[in-house]
Amino acid sequence: MEERLQKIISQAGIASRRAAEKLIIAQRVTVDGTVVTELGTKVDAARHVVAVDGKPIAASEKHVYLLLHKPKGCLSTAKDDRGRRTVLDLVPDVSERIYPVGRLDYNTTGLLLLTNDGALMNGLLHPKREVEKTYVATVKGVIDEAALTQLRTGVLLDDGMTAPARVRVLAQADGFSQAEVIIHEGRNRQVRRMFAAVGCDVCELARTQFARLTLDGVKRGAYRSLTTREVERLRAMTGLEK
Ligand code: URA
Repeated sequence: MEERLQKIISQAGIASRRAAEKLIIAQRVTVDGTVVTELGTKVDAARHVVAVDGKPIAASEKHVYLLLHKPKGCLSTAKDDRGRRTVLDLVPDVSERIYPVGRLDYNTTGLLLLTNDGALMNGLLHPKREVEKTYVATVKGVIDEAALTQLRTGVLLDDGMTAPARVRVLAQADGFSQAEVIIHEGRNRQVRRMFAAVGCDVCELARTQFARLTLDGVKRGAYRSLTTREVERLRAMTGLEK
């Protein structure tokens, strides 16, 4: 059956569909050894060899689901042209080609899922699923009532209004405040930009929960596999069968 190249790549767990399009544009995708740059290209994966960076896509690779506690100073991309440390450097024993589910900034710490299950990744990242992410932000100064109200109502960013966030102040001392923020959108640098928009400067940011998974028992820089039950719950959340 012929399917769009980006769909084949994302279903094999190589990347989300959007990231697959970027791979195609970057000339990293070949079909039977020929570089394909046309996004609309349709291919029958059963009859042709699709490869990314010269590596053929293995359609039946075992699914791997990891929960990583990302430290600071680490990129959440699979690869970096400038040789900086990426989250994949923290999982050296995993031979499957896994990818982060979404992104955390270089200096944001916290919970990041890694998987080669493209369908689950796409489901978790799809805006309509409204998957909840919880962050703890440490900001300079006091977060006043006006700022809290704005965050809870929606903040105008350069890419549009944010959906209302659930926000509560956890601590205020020594010129710093800490707040827990729960959002379901996943825009680039969203939490930092939301605070900046209400006049607060985020100096530390940690993601403490994703889709109700927590970091319990996972030290910074360490990771664990998801349990079967956890994977089943995520699959059910995203409308996938067991
Ligand atoms: N929001 C941010 O600002 N940064 C992250 O890494 C995640 C959410």
